[in-house]
Amino acid sequence: MGKQRIKFDFLVHDLKVPLAVIEAGLTSLIQKTDKYGPLTDKQLKVLKRALRNTLVTRTLVNDALELGRSSQGIIQKTTFPLSGFVVQTLVEIFDLVDLETSDCVRGCDTLSVLKEQLSEKGILLTVDERLWHQEVSMDESKMKQIIRNLLSNALKYKKKQVELKIGQEEDSFVVIVGDDGDGIPSGYHDKIFECYFQMDMQSDYCVRGHGVGLAGVMILVEDMGGRLFLESDVGKGATFSVKVPL
Ligand SMILES: Nc1ncnc2c1ncn2[C@@H]1O[C@H](COP(=O)(O)OP(=O)(O)OP(=O)(O)O)[C@@H](O)[C@H]1O
Ligand SMILES: [Mg+2]
Repeated sequence: MGKQRIKFDFLVHDLKVPLAVIEAGLTSLIQKTDKYGPLTDKQLKVLKRALRNTLVTRTLVNDALELGRSSQGIIQKTTFPLSGFVVQTLVEIFDLVDLETSDCVRGCDTLSVLKEQLSEKGILLTVDERLWHQEVSMDESKMKQIIRNLLSNALKYKKKQVELKIGQEEDSFVVIVGDDGDGIPSGYHDKIFECYFQMDMQSDYCVRGHGVGLAGVMILVEDMGGRLFLESDVGKGATFSVKVPL
């Protein structure tokens, strides 16, 4: 590994400590009003927004480190219940955008309640019923990152709804994320997986992201020995399918 890369990872790594301090401070102010004093509604709103964005930053820091580790070929396979994994992943996604929904999702105790909550947010979840009650073996944090990136893109580009399908095909774990947005012209199907590439680079560049997500997803999928497929065309939405050996 090059010295520059180590230096970069080290810098990202050291962002974790000040971030944790900021997060703990904000959490205390929000939760321990008996100790730190009552908050007005407006103050609470500002603090919650600040906390939410601290969580965003924490996720980004972890993602950056995870990606560095992944390109070193480190795979950490564990066995975990699929249901908990799906709920946790969704909670993390909504923690970034919508705290209320993330609370709702966290409280869901059955698949049908979860589906209902999500459909109110325009997400149609389908999970192989048998798999839902099973344990799966794979690199949990990498899979989480893959789903998080694909789903947040879908939510960003959708018109009305997003489909999330989780299932099993022979010995592979399959995740399908589809949306009903403007889609991706076939000429761009390879390009969008290049780092820093965005189709709408000129328009609202700052708001929409950096064009790093899909490049990272591709690396993680390959590292897990899996494959990624894209089906999309102009006006037909986009569907990303990930198949990873179990
Ligand atoms: N579901 C989708 N529908 C339409 N276009 C998409 C979709 N997903 C990705 N794209 C296109 O591919 C580009 C690259 O996606 P990628 O996730 O790598 O970057 P990003 O979302 O723009 O930024 P970030 O680095 O924050 O993820 C996007 O800018 C967009 O032009
Ligand atoms: Mg993205």
